[in-house]
Amino acid sequence: MSERIVIIGGTAGMGLATAAHLEKAGHRVVVAGRDEQRLAAALERLGGSAEGRVVDAGSAEQLAEFFAAVGEFDHLVVTVAPHGGAGPIAELEREQLRVLTDGKLAAHLLAVQAALPTLRADGSITLVGAVTAHVGVAGTAALAAVNGAVEAASRALAAELAPRRVNAVSPGFVDTDWWDWLPGEARDGLFAQTAAALPLKRVGRAEDVAHAIAFLVENAYTTGISLIVDGGARLQTG
Ligand SMILES: NC(=O)c1ccc[n+]([C@@H]2O[C@H](COP(=O)([O-])OP(=O)(O)OC[C@H]3O[C@@H](n4cnc5c(N)ncnc54)[C@H](OP(=O)(O)O)[C@@H]3O)[C@@H](O)[C@H]2O)c1
Repeated sequence: MSERIVIIGGTAGMGLATAAHLEKAGHRVVVAGRDEQRLAAALERLGGSAEGRVVDAGSAEQLAEFFAAVGEFDHLVVTVAPHGGAGPIAELEREQLRVLTDGKLAAHLLAVQAALPTLRADGSITLVGAVTAHVGVAGTAALAAVNGAVEAASRALAAELAPRRVNAVSPGFVDTDWWDWLPGEARDGLFAQTAAALPLKRVGRAEDVAHAIAFLVENAYTTGISLIVDGGARLQTG
């Protein structure tokens, strides 16, 4: 059955890959992000039936206007985050922490809140955390905390909003523009080093996560879970 799915963060990376995956499966997608040009490029990449709108998920006012303009829909996916946030705790700046908390945790929760009046009564919500919340990796304290909070919130929301379903995906290391805070060479080196260390011997692709999000959107009997998609990053193979 063709359903209408709103993807906030659907103009790049995992969100755009999710939109393409769901569209191919016959659904109607509405993609949203802050940047008008990125939105236009995303719509060009998607089929003609895709809709798109500019919104900043950090603004409750913009979100209210956005959902009023979108109208009724079946499923919400939120993939937004600011770029960066990794580094030793000794170097963490107060402002970085604010940007991360506002741009990820607050944006996810505000998007859920604003979606409620027009989201189908037995529809679904899928949020995106990160596997940093499930492991202990030096230099990721702020990322782990914020992503862990998103995933914890998704379970509480699953209880609160039932019979709507609420789930999270928890990606590992995925090759998207999210990594553009690292200069090209450092980024290539980190990708190669990470791929070699992973049991599945490659970093993730946006499509790997899109596939998992699509499962959570479409599977009518799954709620309150975090689905980890990390290429085995938590395993010890030695
Ligand atoms: N890439 C990784 O290795 C990785 C690993 C673990 C978890 N994650 C998580 O996975 C999620 C998706 O990441 P990604 O790699 O797909 O990132 P991405 O390629 O940077 O895409 C992020 C998308 O969100 C939009 N966005 C960001 N802030 C927004 C805001 N305030 N309001 C509306 N739209 C906003 C961006 O468009 P605009 O900039 O135009 O707004 C873009 O469409 C994030 O939550 C990230 O924390 C990523």
